[in-house]
Amino acid sequence: MRLTLKDLAKKYEAKEKITMVTVYDSSFAAVAEQAGVDILFIGDSLGMTVQGHDSPLPVTVEDMVYHTRAVVRGSKQGFVIGDLPFGAYHESPAQAFRNAAQLMMAGANMVKLEGGAVMAEAVEFLTKRGIPVCGHLGLTPQSYNALGGFRVQGKSDEAAQRLINDAKTLQNAGMFMVVLEAIPATLGKDVTTSLTIPTIGIGAGPDCSGQVLLAYDLLDIFPGQKAKFVKNFMATGGSVSAAFTNFVKEVKDGSFPGPEHCY
Ligand code: KIV
Repeated sequence: MRLTLKDLAKKYEAKEKITMVTVYDSSFAAVAEQAGVDILFIGDSLGMTVQGHDSPLPVTVEDMVYHTRAVVRGSKQGFVIGDLPFGAYHESPAQAFRNAAQLMMAGANMVKLEGGAVMAEAVEFLTKRGIPVCGHLGLTPQSYNALGGFRVQGKSDEAAQRLINDAKTLQNAGMFMVVLEAIPATLGKDVTTSLTIPTIGIGAGPDCSGQVLLAYDLLDIFPGQKAKFVKNFMATGGSVSAAFTNFVKEVKDGSFPGPEHCY
């Protein structure tokens, strides 16, 4: 049986850390869920890891549908989240719904979109129409041009407060969960304690409700430059399934991320 929103909410209420891994195909999805990963996330990072671009911007809704179908076919238990790619939800809530519906029809249980309070209308539109939404704040890779590169966010008091306000606004609009990427660990903690929904960190410190890494990063497959928050679980795991198992164990017992993975 696949995990549901209720199962994730129970884990959150019980303060059990939630584990999420970005996967793009059926084999990785199967191995990850067998290792106990709660959420299988099909990320537009596939633009870089699979397609070889230098950003996620060229990824299309059709690409995301293709990979979401593959992950769904390969898995039975993992909660599936599909990523709305660049240009697929900014025009209007109706456009966001049309494209989110494609991912839900491919088998996703939730969609993820990037952005702050400006996305509240779309989040409300989707959730009121039966599509659960995960937000994404901090380093939002689809905006890397506007951010001046892939940089740590929320470093000033003003930027940190803006991020907390964005998170609260999106929560009020119906957002179920939020990914926090590349922000100071102290801010990851502040956002987590300010909300009543799960935060999933990637370079956001150990106090988030859960953690996410790309499978290609935790297995040390991606040859590009490694972010500080990446840990190579292959180095100690020795096999793909042991690497996923160790990721799950270390997130659940709080030993990952360590200080060396935090900003
Ligand atoms: O695309 C992706 O893999 C992501 C993760 C960083 C959560 O957005």
